[in-house]
Order: sequence, then C-alpha cells, then structure tokens
Amino acid sequence: MAVKNDMTADFLRSAYGGESMAHMRYLIWGEIAEKEGFPNIKRLFNAIAYAEYVHANNHFHELGEMKGGAGVTAGAVFGVGKTADNLQGAIDGELHEVNQMYPVYLEAARFQNEKGAERSFRFALEAEKIHAVLFARAQEQARQGKDMELGTVYVCPVCGYTEAGDVPDVCPVCGAKKENFKTF
Ligand code: FE2
Ligand code: FE2
Ligand code: FE2
Repeated sequence: MAVKNDMTADFLRSAYGGESMAHMRYLIWGEIAEKEGFPNIKRLFNAIAYAEYVHANNHFHELGEMKGGAGVTAGAVFGVGKTADNLQGAIDGELHEVNQMYPVYLEAARFQNEKGAERSFRFALEAEKIHAVLFARAQEQARQGKDMELGTVYVCPVCGYTEAGDVPDVCPVCGAKKENFKTF
C-alpha cells in the first residue's frame, strides 16, 4: 500500500531523512561517549539509533513505489562536542519531533486519510517521547562526569518503542511480543 497524496508523501520523505540522520548521529555520538568513559550512554545511543532505523524503515516502506524527493531536507542537528553537549542536541531533536514535527505530520496524514502514514508517524511520535526522557537522564549524569545507570534496553522492531529495565510482555504501542524485541 503506497501513499496517495503529495503532502503526506513529502512529510514521509522529510521524516525518513530526519530519522536516517538521527540514526547516524547517535552512532557517532555513542562512539564519543565511549571514548569519554561512558559505556552505558554509548549503549543508550546505540539502542535509540536502532529505534530511529525502525522509524526510517517504516516511513520508507509507506512511500511504496512513489519516487522522487531526492532533495529532501531533514532538519538535522549537527555538531561534535562533549557528550553532555551532544545529549543536548539529542534532546532538542527529540523534543522538536515530539512537539512540532510528528503532531503536524500526523494530523496531515489523518486529514488526507493516509492510514499507513498515520500509523508510521504515530509509532515514531510515541517512541520519541521516551527517547527525550532517557537522553535527559543520561545528560544529568554526564554533566557530573558520570556514566548513567542503565539496565538492558529493549527496542520494539515494529514501532521503535524503547524501554530500559522492565518491559511489558507486549509492546504498549503496537502489540508486538517482547521476545521479538532487540536488546542492547
Ligand atoms: Fe525516530
Ligand atoms: Fe528518537
Ligand atoms: Fe512496538
């Protein structure tokens, strides 16, 4: 099932671009965190990078066979800094998605009756809310020169739902089973 309307397609391409760049950025910032002696913060970056891959993958598939959009702008955050600063970039990016980008994209998809895109945007929106909280927890520790305490991180391969420590048996966002979650 491919998207039918141009505006929703534009938003899917833009979201795909943003998620793709977030995926790479988090892997890069994770390596910096490791060098600073924060292996758990690196693990968090890696887990969330995977969640952003899930989002990019969902958006890409919703575009179906619709071509074009090579010049997509992705609204990315750039900057190589210390981990506490990189985490601020991560928090800003996630909050932009939570407060501005995905609510608008979601309403557009609803208005245009694009069920698949609506689902893809909703899945991402729910995960980004958690990402912002987890990154804020990491930043609190990094600012004091400490690594964060972090249990196993679980990521749903269907919607990108991300949880550290205890997770429910089924994904609260999409209903996928816990045994399919990827662990970090
Ligand atoms: Fe995402
Ligand atoms: Fe995110
Ligand atoms: Fe899920």
